[in-house]
Amino acid sequence: MVTGAASGIGFATGVELLKAGHTVYFTDRNPTDLARIAAPLRERAHAVILDLKHLADMRAATKDILARHGSIDILVNNAGITIKGADGKPQGFLDATEEQFFEIMRINSLALMQMTQLVLPGMMQKRWGRIVNVASLAGRSKSIVSGPLYMMSKASVLGLTRATAAEMGPHGITCNAVAPGRILSAMTENAAPGVNDGYAAQIPVRRIGDPIEVASGIAYLCGEHAGFTNGAVIDINGGFFMS
Ligand SMILES: NC(=O)c1ccc[n+]([C@@H]2O[C@H](COP(=O)([O-])OP(=O)(O)OC[C@H]3O[C@@H](n4cnc5c(N)ncnc54)[C@H](O)[C@@H]3O)[C@@H](O)[C@H]2O)c1
Repeated sequence: MVTGAASGIGFATGVELLKAGHTVYFTDRNPTDLARIAAPLRERAHAVILDLKHLADMRAATKDILARHGSIDILVNNAGITIKGADGKPQGFLDATEEQFFEIMRINSLALMQMTQLVLPGMMQKRWGRIVNVASLAGRSKSIVSGPLYMMSKASVLGLTRATAAEMGPHGITCNAVAPGRILSAMTENAAPGVNDGYAAQIPVRRIGDPIEVASGIAYLCGEHAGFTNGAVIDINGGFFMS
């Protein structure tokens, strides 16, 4: 089950998991165009409208998948949003409001915790599970463009990842995070002129990333042989930030 899978990193992740042989539920608040997936793989692809604003909808979606398939073995918490200032530019710290704080934390943090809570009982019963959370370079280090609320929300994803990994490891469940740097997706392709080029000039590989380059890292973490990787953060940023 992949959240925010209609586009960008989430869609690419769904396709990578199909290639690995899994049945994949592409969930998103927007419809997912499964026709973009090659025919043989498409047979194992399902699209579900799921808005992570509503716990009842998350419950219904996971219940439905469990009823059809018996288990949800892999959860990729990918969906995320940014908050811009009124002029569309990165927001200053003093402009952040309580309303915006709750809006971004609901989707970028709380929904990940709730989705994780919904899949864990089944994984614990099966004694196998893989959870991958999509954090961000903005939560590992800093963001030039995304603003304080996004940085706060993505830092919380790293804490959620470690909490889940520590408590669930004994149950055969791993939880890891990826922290992408600048990736070309719907979230970034409409940036102000020069922003992506300016970013690329500061990245050692001199370009911004492609969703597939994050999706392949996520797919690795979902694999059987990633079982000893737990509570880790994989930085996928072209060398912009090295820890
Ligand atoms: N693109 C980047 O440079 C970049 C960098 C670091 C981290 N990320 C993170 O990667 C993840 C994927 O982003 P992307 O770059 O592929 O952008 P994207 O905009 O292409 O994909 C995000 C998806 O999340 C969905 N979504 C948003 N709110 C939702 C909600 N309430 N319920 C369900 N779905 C919802 C959107 O419809 C969209 O399909 C996000 O968590 C983002 O914060 C992106």
